[in-house]
Amino acid sequence: MKSTVILGTGSAAPDNILTNFDLEKIMDTSDEWIIQRTGIKERHIAKPGEKFSDFALPASRQALEMAEIDPVDLDMIIAGTLTPDTLMPSGGCTIQALLNADKAAAFDVCAACSGFVYGLAIADRFLKNDPDLNILVIGGELVSHHMDWNDRTTAVLFGDGVGAAVVASRENQGAKILSVEMQSNGKLGELLYFAGLGSEHPVGREDFKPEYNYISMQGREIFKHAIRNMVEISGKAMQKAGVTVDQITKVIPHQANLRIIEMLAKQFKKPLDQVFINIDRYGNTSAGTIPIALDEANRSGFLEKGDLVLLTVFGGGLTWAAAVLEW
Ligand code: UT7
Repeated sequence: MKSTVILGTGSAAPDNILTNFDLEKIMDTSDEWIIQRTGIKERHIAKPGEKFSDFALPASRQALEMAEIDPVDLDMIIAGTLTPDTLMPSGGCTIQALLNADKAAAFDVCAACSGFVYGLAIADRFLKNDPDLNILVIGGELVSHHMDWNDRTTAVLFGDGVGAAVVASRENQGAKILSVEMQSNGKLGELLYFAGLGSEHPVGREDFKPEYNYISMQGREIFKHAIRNMVEISGKAMQKAGVTVDQITKVIPHQANLRIIEMLAKQFKKPLDQVFINIDRYGNTSAGTIPIALDEANRSGFLEKGDLVLLTVFGGGLTWAAAVLEW
């Protein structure tokens, strides 16, 4: 029987690396504090002029190449991002044009860090209805353009990068998506806030403040909600997939804080060598964390045939999601 599968993955990030020591020179912080409190050592930061599509395009091409799918055969492009090149055309449409994926419907999913897994959920539901579709799901950000480099409470946490996956319906091919669950709580939305180009604070109006263009976060509050909700939604995804936590062999968690990752590993009773961690090299790339980690885990051999893999993510909105894959 056919089921939704991941056929290929890809990822890309800016060449420019910003280390904790570089940050020490521009703000009141230290390598020691950042490593102890977050696990981050360095992050990729776009240079002025670099944009989302500069990284979404190579990530998508890698995923398509691995999947052996020609862009003209794509039916849909879903881009989970808060930071497309432009709001209109959407990030999905920009990539559609660059790929010459002429028959695809393309759009963005605005679910902050959860954008890629939300995209997987949408792709899965479409494929259950129409198994002939080929869908490209992208997730990632150029979040550094929206950092207040005077605010040490957020600027040290984030980094830029994009990942992608090609999703289709197949029998005996690819990594099966056994379940994808997602949830939100808009009532707590202000805990992680980015006014951006929203209609509440139109750019250019006389009362527009620079902070509207920056991401702000009540870190301690988010920390608690992140753990609680990722544990809960992971339970739902495992139940839906018909697997127990003991059967999960690999975990790919959102890379927002090493302490959160370690607490999740403890909750799921998994040794850290079964948990994929790259936060030390990327920081929090928002919607990019899961697809970049998935691609690195795939290409490095961390994921082995037969693995039952749990993806779990939490972000602004608030939004959270989890998926179970059979590799
Ligand atoms: O992707 C979306 C999901 N995001 C998350 O899940 C992130 C969740 N939150 C976190 O990861 C953590 O809350 C943070 C890493 C953001 C902060 O860690 P924390 O242990 O909760 O620190 P804190 O905010 O309670 O601050 C502790 C101290 C404060 O100083 P005082 O008031 O104790 O004197 C801060 O001013 O650390 C200070 N501090 C810093 N010191 C050096 C805050 N940021 C920095 C910094 N460098 N960059």
